[in-house]
Amino acid sequence: MEIAASMLNANLLNLGEDVRMAEQWGLRMIHFDQMDGHFVPNIAFGPAFVAAVRPITSCFLDVHLMLSDPMRFIDTFVDAGADNITIHAEIEGDIPAIIKEIHAKGCKAGISLNPETPPEAIRPYLADLDMVLVMMVHPGFGGQHISDECVAKLPVLKQMIAETGREIPIEVDGGIKRENAERVLEAGADILVMGTGLYGEPDPTAIVHEMREVWNAHLNSTRR
Ligand code: DX5
Ligand code: ZN
Repeated sequence: MEIAASMLNANLLNLGEDVRMAEQWGLRMIHFDQMDGHFVPNIAFGPAFVAAVRPITSCFLDVHLMLSDPMRFIDTFVDAGADNITIHAEIEGDIPAIIKEIHAKGCKAGISLNPETPPEAIRPYLADLDMVLVMMVHPGFGGQHISDECVAKLPVLKQMIAETGREIPIEVDGGIKRENAERVLEAGADILVMGTGLYGEPDPTAIVHEMREVWNAHLNSTRR
């Protein structure tokens, strides 16, 4: 299990400090949301934020593109320092060509599914993907609640991935908290993106610690 700290609701007046805090909590992955005001009803960040953070951390920089036309920005985000770029399955562009472009730039590639998009939508791309990102809320804003329908997609995706014989982690994003970590981990999540579930909480170190314990307990129960 990996926890990725989402910067969307962090304190943007002190982005460097937010990244350092995530490192102090023991996290190795930073999640950057990018929104174009078209694919989602919000605007966020841009590549300059990724580039600003790159020199201050060795954490894996996970860039989530909620853009209608991500192809135009792949080179920019890789040059900014992204380690993974995730695009959305719902866009109209040539998805295989975009994945190819991400890989050609030496970056990992993921595809994300919105709440209403069925798991089946990911099947044509599984052979080439490094990650599948399952939205647990409608993308655009932090601080929402996870939906049961989205959690129900996780075991289906897990099975679909297992059938390929490849190890592709499933990342869940939106509404992930200490309270529902067990549920999503048991359903098949490998990477948990957390924004408001960490930033703004009084003791994020304890939350991360407890979530690791939940994960260990889950591993022990599946081994038995
Ligand atoms: C939502 C974003 C998420 C968001 C998660 O559109 O993709 O990454 O930051 O925030 P929380 O964890 O607060 O729901
Ligand atoms: Zn995200």
